[in-house]
Amino acid sequence: MKTVKIGSVGLGRLGYEHAKNIATRVPGAELTAICDVAADRVREVAEELGVKYQYTDFAEMCANPELDAIAIVSPSMFHGEQIKMALDAGKHVFCDKPLDTTVEKCKLAEKAVEAHPDKVFMLGFMRRYDPSYVKAKAKLDNGDIGRVILVRSYTQDPRTTIEGTLKFAPHSGGQFLDMCVHDIDLVRWFTGSEPKNVWGIGGVFEFELYRELNDGDNVACMMQCENEAMAFMFAGRASAHGCNVETEIVGTRGTLRIASVGTDSMLEVMSKHGVCRECYPDFLARWHEAYTNEMIEFVSCIREGRKPEVTVYDGTAVSEIAYRCKESFECGEMLPLRD
Ligand code: NAI
Repeated sequence: MKTVKIGSVGLGRLGYEHAKNIATRVPGAELTAICDVAADRVREVAEELGVKYQYTDFAEMCANPELDAIAIVSPSMFHGEQIKMALDAGKHVFCDKPLDTTVEKCKLAEKAVEAHPDKVFMLGFMRRYDPSYVKAKAKLDNGDIGRVILVRSYTQDPRTTIEGTLKFAPHSGGQFLDMCVHDIDLVRWFTGSEPKNVWGIGGVFEFELYRELNDGDNVACMMQCENEAMAFMFAGRASAHGCNVETEIVGTRGTLRIASVGTDSMLEVMSKHGVCRECYPDFLARWHEAYTNEMIEFVSCIREGRKPEVTVYDGTAVSEIAYRCKESFECGEMLPLRD
């Protein structure tokens, strides 16, 4: 089967992780090109990973006829236009979340995907490829916990990585879009339903920049779905103990709970503080396997001529819900998903 030659754009926190995975951990793929506006970074990563083509201009990379696919891991506000450029250049496209930073731009991405039905498009909702979440979904689909009553999902980033987070915050689309997208995706995936009403709340508990952005550094949202399932999400930027992501699905016949406390090994440290287990230091450590698995799925889809489960429409739906949560946070009232 043909090797899929990939050009990857964005070499920041997650972009470097994807580039490295493509170069070293994804069977049937080759990291043939990389692009970033920071020329030094491009040179450095190209040297480390042995990449043939280096670009600082995305359009130039898309014009390379050797490339079969493009991975987009640039800042979120560029996603829609880069998706269109890559598809129009005849490439398959993987794009990390969110689809873009406005619903209007998400719709443009939808149009671009629809105009190229022969191309694979995949959005990076990587939790769906994390082994624990995959297992939970299989049990749910098997009827093991009956009907879903409640999904509770927490995403807490450690304060140790706050410096990079604050730089990223102004163009992230806000907490509900940037952080809650994964939890919103899980709610839709696990309940098989769309939210009917959302109530976004939150505040600025530690990092004043979020107030300037009309946002909260810790936010939460309660939802009621069309099928009566309930959901509660919490996204925080001030976790003392590390990257903590936990999800609980309460059903009529049982409960599934994933990672109440994240830990990256079986090590226990016994000291005057008691018995401690160290947590994942950041999102890259927590989701390392999921990031690899989603890229393996993208490449397999191209090689096997099939489409991934996560679609461009999931991207728009999640963004619409996230923005409605933000509106609710701003006005302080519970809102229907659509007026
Ligand atoms: P970052 O800020 O660390 O890196 C962004 C990189 O893109 C920088 O190297 C910058 O020089 C480069 N860049 C900026 N404008 C560019 C342009 N026009 N063309 C090419 N390169 C450009 O950002 P980070 O954290 O790596 O995030 C990138 C994307 O990945 C975002 O959309 C973010 O939402 C997403 N992400 C997803 C996560 C997940 O769990 N799925 C986790 C972290 C980020």
